[in-house]
Amino acid sequence: MIPKRLRILPPYPPVVVALDEPWNSAKIWVDRLKGRVWGFKVGSILFAERGPTVVEEILNSGARVFLDLKYHDIPNTVQLSVRRAVSWGVSLITVHAWGGHAMLKAAAAEQKPDQRVVAVTVLTSLDQEDLKQAGVLGDLEGQVQRLATLAINSGIAGLVSSPHEVADLRERFPEATLVTPGIRLDPGTDDQKRTLGIDETLRAGSDLAVVGRVLTMATDWEKQWERITSSTAGMS
Ligand code: C5P
Repeated sequence: MIPKRLRILPPYPPVVVALDEPWNSAKIWVDRLKGRVWGFKVGSILFAERGPTVVEEILNSGARVFLDLKYHDIPNTVQLSVRRAVSWGVSLITVHAWGGHAMLKAAAAEQKPDQRVVAVTVLTSLDQEDLKQAGVLGDLEGQVQRLATLAINSGIAGLVSSPHEVADLRERFPEATLVTPGIRLDPGTDDQKRTLGIDETLRAGSDLAVVGRVLTMATDWEKQWERITSSTAGMS
């Protein structure tokens, strides 16, 4: 069974906060935003430090967990890894669509109605030149579409892409859960190459915007949170 499209209901903005930092500082974000945010994204930085206890700690705060370990391995390894993550109670889990049909199908088999696997298409930090260096000679948008189609046809509930591909993916896959990193409120010069504002991203059809350094590195975080929530008002 393929889980239905994720709908984030008020009072939460359709936002997940990426905790790409050690637990002593990540915990401050959990304390600040608990009750105000749908969930937190745990990636390899935090998971390497705390393991599954970090999932439990965040769930105890009342927030949901998006486990972003981007599994990409043989089908059996990925299936058992997803099964384990599902048993911890996480709401979203990432795999790489590049893992191929058998791997995606194995991951998809572990989904539950409120526990979705989402497949990363092309990382937001990559551009056309990066793809060329990796031997992908077609255009980036075509590569995102191919990987997205492969994932959806394998039973995966959702897709991760840059904001630039959201409108096209929404049109092609109306029932898919679309998760979108690469959000910037002001033009930036960091490692992310395919970025866009949060309101444009949600209007294009994203279900969940991933907010990371744009919030966690802000000099005045409360002001930045206010900017984020006011630009998402009425969109959940
Ligand atoms: O701080 P920033 O907004 O760049 O954070 C984006 C987050 O989304 C990071 O945790 C990164 O690992 C994750 N991500 C991404 N691109 C993808 C999938 C996940 O940037 N395609």
